[in-house]
Amino acid sequence: MRIGVLTGGGDCPGLNAVIRAVVRTANGRYGDAIVGFEDGWRGLLENRKIPIHNDDRTDRLLTKGGTMLGTARTNPDVLRAGLPRIQQTLDDNGIEALIPIGGEGTLTAASWLADEGVPVVGVPKTIDNDIDCTDVTFGHDTALSIATEAIDRLHTTAESHQRVMLVEVMGRHAGWIALNSGIAAGAHLTLVPEEPFEVAQVCAMIKSRFQRGEKSFICVVAEGAHPAPDSGFALREGGIDEFGHERFTGVAQQLGSEIERRIGKEVRTTVLGHIQRGGSPTPYDRILATRFGVHAAEAVHAGHFGQMVALHGTTIGLVPLSEATKQLKRVPPERLSEASAFFG
Ligand code: F6P
Repeated sequence: MRIGVLTGGGDCPGLNAVIRAVVRTANGRYGDAIVGFEDGWRGLLENRKIPIHNDDRTDRLLTKGGTMLGTARTNPDVLRAGLPRIQQTLDDNGIEALIPIGGEGTLTAASWLADEGVPVVGVPKTIDNDIDCTDVTFGHDTALSIATEAIDRLHTTAESHQRVMLVEVMGRHAGWIALNSGIAAGAHLTLVPEEPFEVAQVCAMIKSRFQRGEKSFICVVAEGAHPAPDSGFALREGGIDEFGHERFTGVAQQLGSEIERRIGKEVRTTVLGHIQRGGSPTPYDRILATRFGVHAAEAVHAGHFGQMVALHGTTIGLVPLSEATKQLKRVPPERLSEASAFFG
């Protein structure tokens, strides 16, 4: 068989481990030829590809962050209009099955292709952990470890200066990194996109902590967190980028200034940004990515198309791409209320 592989959307630790596992399984077990398309869907729109061999170079991909194929975000409208071109590229290259590895945007495009009869098996990735129908995505554990270590370090400097520290982490629509790193690092509050915050409440929590004689207040802020509409504080609008994504202007920075203005407490802000996506995946992510890659290659050989590999408990299963891309997986209210027991 000739199998195409691509990585789309923002990069994520573990992408290379999936590619390696697909190659080792498909080529090693079945003798398939693997064609890698470069820079996500763009490679298919522009017919840019490279053969990937089952050799030492591929084997060493396991620990490497980023993606050997490159990646890109593609405007969904451009992608929809380009579906016939993508199908043509697949035909021209004799591709009999395609394995797109990506987040919501990439998997949605994969679902469209599946609807057109293209044999596709998707692999979910994102540090944000917001893909539905899978317990977790690879990349999240790495980002979580990085964020946790950063917050651990902020505790000592915050205490020394008796400061409020705001740490902004990634998560446009879902607060998994914020919630999980907040719990893991013993933060005093996390703000997530799922639950609009009241600045007055945040300020009251800070005041009460310092009045109790505590020496610091650490708050993890997801980049997509936003104030409640009537909270007397509005974020400056960030606008929409060329891909239709919201642009953020730094919620933590803006909130920090507002806290200083309201209660006169010294605030410092740390934005972790792309550090959360860089470098080598954790062992957990290497294992999950490898398992996803093996199962994607096996699904291709079993003819289970239009599916996405997914983690359910300890087993890897398949779910229809159309189901998995219906909605994002957001932090449920019960997880937020559970976490609120630790905060303050
Ligand atoms: O989707 C993953 C993600 O890391 C988000 O958490 C973040 O908002 C976004 O990508 C950043 O995208 P870019 O690398 O295009 O700036």
